[in-house]
Amino acid sequence: MSADEFEGDSVVKVTDLVAGYIPGVNILNGCSIEARRGELIGIIGPNGAGKSTLLKAMFGLVKVHSGNVVVRGQDITGLKANKLVSRGVGFVPQNNNVFPSLTIEENLQMGLFQAPKRFAERFDFVSTLFPELRQRRAQRAGSLSGGERQMVAMGRALMMEPAVLLLDEPSAGLSPVKQDEAFLRVHEINRAGVSVIMVEQNARRCLQICDRAYVLDQGKDAYTGTGRELMKDPKVIQLYLGTLADTA
Ligand SMILES: Nc1ncnc2c1ncn2[C@@H]1O[C@H](COP(=O)(O)OP(=O)(O)OP(=O)(O)O)[C@@H](O)[C@H]1O
Ligand SMILES: [Mg+2]
Repeated sequence: MSADEFEGDSVVKVTDLVAGYIPGVNILNGCSIEARRGELIGIIGPNGAGKSTLLKAMFGLVKVHSGNVVVRGQDITGLKANKLVSRGVGFVPQNNNVFPSLTIEENLQMGLFQAPKRFAERFDFVSTLFPELRQRRAQRAGSLSGGERQMVAMGRALMMEPAVLLLDEPSAGLSPVKQDEAFLRVHEINRAGVSVIMVEQNARRCLQICDRAYVLDQGKDAYTGTGRELMKDPKVIQLYLGTLADTA
């Protein structure tokens, strides 16, 4: 069955994932999450919980010891990143997510190197979400602000028309105003039909905009529910949200 024929509701299903960087040291300890069609999924949890490792393991960048990752009905566990992109997975890492010496347009071309003929069509789509990228297409990515780079990185990942976009801390390092903008953009990407799995440090904002979320702790999904449910859950508040949650 090809991915295009898959009619089910589940876009990504991660089951009991065990993974790590060094043999014998597991960072993910049986982590399970799922994103269904059209969902915006949040992943929150303390520093070092394994949030980035989870996205990297899903994207073939960390060795998976057991468990699996299924995308639109196909087992993609351990496939390399270039294969995953053609299976409908887009990834924007936490750091170093643009090619600074290349222009915006060249960065977007890099996202589509497996299907260069679709450039005009996909550039149109990406520039409806991020009009700034079209206006400044000839500018080098290295000269952009943090928020602008984040847009280039998301734009690049969207060029291949992913079914699911994995975002690692899209608001990190941005001013409060730019953070609001980043969350708005993520929401727009999701409304345009892309399922999104977003790791966020800003837990409260993340829970406000996501459909469902998972709290990761020590490499496992410790709690799950709708954003609204988790924001009101006393255990989640006490352990992960602090007093900020009271003002939600
Ligand atoms: N390249 C690496 N090699 C070895 N260990 C690593 C590597 N990257 C991360 N780790 C370890 O894996 C654990 C989980 O790290 P990870 O980056 O997934 O956490 P995180 O939840 O994303 O944290 P943060 O909120 O700080 O981004 C940490 O103990 C970290 O030291
Ligand atoms: Mg991280």
